Formats: sequence, structure tokens, C-alpha cells
Amino acid sequence: MTLLGKRILLIIAGGIAAYKSLDLIRRLRERGASVRPILTRAGQQFVTPLAVSAIAHQKVYTDIFSLTDESEMGHLRLAQEADLIVVAPATADILAKMAVGIADELATTALVATDRPVLVAPAMNFRMWRHAATVANMAVLEARGVRRIGPNSGALAEGESGPGRMAEPLEIAAAVEAFFGRGSPLAGRTAIVTSGPTHEAIDPVRYIANRSSGKQGHAIAAALARLGAKVTLVSGPTALPDPPGLTTIRIESARDMLAACSSALPADVAVCAAAVADWRVDQPARGKIKKVPGAGPPPLVLSENPDILQTLSEPGARRPRLVIGFAAETAQVVRNAAAKRLKKGCDWIVANDVSPEAGTFGGDANTVHLVTDAGVEDWPRLSKQEVADRLAARIAAVLAPDSQSDAAAMSSSKVAIKPSSLRRPARPRRGVIGRA
Ligand code: C5P
Repeated sequence: MTLLGKRILLIIAGGIAAYKSLDLIRRLRERGASVRPILTRAGQQFVTPLAVSAIAHQKVYTDIFSLTDESEMGHLRLAQEADLIVVAPATADILAKMAVGIADELATTALVATDRPVLVAPAMNFRMWRHAATVANMAVLEARGVRRIGPNSGALAEGESGPGRMAEPLEIAAAVEAFFGRGSPLAGRTAIVTSGPTHEAIDPVRYIANRSSGKQGHAIAAALARLGAKVTLVSGPTALPDPPGLTTIRIESARDMLAACSSALPADVAVCAAAVADWRVDQPARGKIKKVPGAGPPPLVLSENPDILQTLSEPGARRPRLVIGFAAETAQVVRNAAAKRLKKGCDWIVANDVSPEAGTFGGDANTVHLVTDAGVEDWPRLSKQEVADRLAARIAAVLAPDSQSDAAAMSSSKVAIKPSSLRRPARPRRGVIGRA
């Protein structure tokens, strides 16, 4: 209950991301905040006052000329009785009005009539975000002390891609927590995350590799860092930039990855999201292997790579409290993942379908099943960023249980616990993850 007693005035402006504001209300409320919503006229085109009110458990304010609203709660009181005002989504239109001080409806009037702190979560087409007018307006607002979260880069509603996606509700909730100085449930905790493929040299120019993009592992590392963890990201070769706020160690081979992970120990949690090559070439050639006419292809003698997940899962003083692996499967996804959890000795397995139809490798979305000691959770199809945020929230619930109750962590992952043949009764593994 990191936001217990905090009063948030949430202004929902008119953008397609307004639907995510319903989830944001839920995230803020489950952290103990009360959320009083204002919907702009345009916002009402995207979400209804009824839906917002039902989730906020509060009256929704929309109209500055409403006699009943004004007699119950004048717009000045509405603007002042908040510990923080959050504008999400913040459209180019409302940012422009805020910058100039236009007060043409209840939301904009409240924003001019307040001296309370304001956090905006911009959401718009990337051309609007990059337009000189929006850039200037945002600069004016930030100079005035308005805080900003996002926008994120990625697919936009119009089918284009670029910066303009509203930050995810969990990210906005984390920014609200950070504002109140309570946003670091993983402060003081350390994490190791492996990501990307490994390259196993055949000779100085050729190697064995796989199609992993590193997107999921990098997103998990960034999500854990956002929650305050000290993160070491051990990454195979990817096209991704090093995420901010953490240490990235770039390696090539599985053996390098194991060495980097071992030197990053001790850690509270290890998340092995890398697609490690199972085999390496026994004796990589020192020089480039030449084609010899008539000799056919050179024989490649392979040997097995060390299993990093299994090594980190071995019992001992240096074992992280929570070790999480991934299982990329093309068939019998959950069954194989559950078997893998037992074989590797890790605590959780995030199972994902990597059949070509699922488009997981290299794509931006993932359908995963979380396999734990308690059973199987089927998560809906989510962006890799959302999978990362949910997994980080679940990790925080185990490593920093005061920050979030298990029930909240469960509901925050919006998952169905599916009766399954693999389900086994919950049984705490004391000394391994501390609690079930
Ligand atoms: O055995 P498999 O490759 O399917 O296991 C996948 C899980 O094990 C992933 O979490 C992956 O990061 C980890 N792994 C590892 N080292 C290996 C092979 C897999 O850490 N050599």
C-alpha cells in the first residue's frame, strides 16, 4: 500500500490511450490512493464516465457549468484537494492549453486553478510529439516544474511506430510512487538478467547463433531497475541500446555469459531470459576455414555449453533467492515448461510459445504462462514491455513483500489461475524464495 492516503486527481484527456487510464486507476487504487477523475469533453469520446466512475469508486467530474457539481465540489476545491494531479493521457491539445493557461473546460480550468504538483503522461502520434509546438510547450511546462513520464516508443494506434505511446499504467503508477518517495520496492536488491542470443565461434568470421532479439530480457532488466533494483544485464550480441540505469555486460559466448553472471553474484534474483546456444564448436579454427574443392564441408565437432540457469539454481550460499528461467517452446508449451522447471531447479519458468505463427522471436508481443511451485498462470497476450512490468511486480512482491501484498501482485498481473493437470498444491519452498 505504497500510496495509502494519497489523493490523486486524474485528468483523462481525449486520446486513444484513455482506455489505459482505467487500468491506471486500478493500479493507483490497489496501492492505496484515492483517485478523483475528471474527464475532458474529448476524453468522453474514448471512455465513458460510467466506466471511469465504476473503477474509481468516485464521482466523475466533466462539466464546469454543472450546478450540482459546482455546489458539491467547486472546481477550485477539486483542483486544490489533491496531493498530485496526473494528466493521462496528456494529448498535444491539453499540453498546449496547459502551457498557455487556457481554461476552456473543467479539466483545463482545474489545471490553471491549482498550485498542486502535476505529472503528465503524453500520448499522441509521433509527428505531433516531435512537432516544434509540442516540443516548446513541453519545455515550458517542464521549466514550470511539471513532471513527465513517457511517452514510450512503439506501435501507435494509426499503424505507425515511434515515440508517442502513453507510458504503461504500471510505469505511471511507479512514477507516482517515486514522486511520493515510495517508488522503489526493490531498492537495495540486486538482480542479474541474461538476454539475447549467444554467438559460438566456428572460426573468426563464422558463428552458431539463434534468432533471439533480446527485447524481452532487456525489458525485464529495465523494469527491475525502474523498481529500484541494482541490475546487471548480461547480454549476448543484440541490436538494442544499453538500457539506462543499470550495468550492461556485453558478451559473445555461453561460457562468457556464465563467467559474467558468476562475477555478478551474489544477487537476490536471477532472470535467465537469454537464448543460450546449447552447443559450441569444440575447437574454433584460428583462421578462416577455407573451402577446399572436392573436400566437402568441414566437420564440426560440437560440445555442450554450460547451462547458466541450472548453474545459478544449484543450492548453496550464493544461490539467488529467486531464480527464474524462460522456456521457449513450439508445442506442449506448459507441460514442457513445468518439466524444465524441475530439471533446472529454478523457482519460476516463464513459458512462451515461439512457434513461427506466434511471432514471438523478434516481435514486440508475447503470450506467456508463469509456471511456479503453486501452479500455472496464463497471462493474456501482452507487449514484451508489459510482460516485463508484470514479472518485475511479481518479483517485488516476493523480494519486498511489504511493498505490495501477494493478492495485489496477483491481481496486478491480471492473470487467470487455470485449473491444470500440472497444478500442484501451493507449497512454500523455505530458504529458496522465502515465501510461496
Ligand atoms: O533448456 P532450454 O534452453 O530450453 O532452457 C531455457 C532456459 O534455460 C532459459 O531460461 C535460458 O536462458 C536458460 N539456459 C541457460 N543456459 C543454457 C541453456 C539455457 O541459462 N546453456
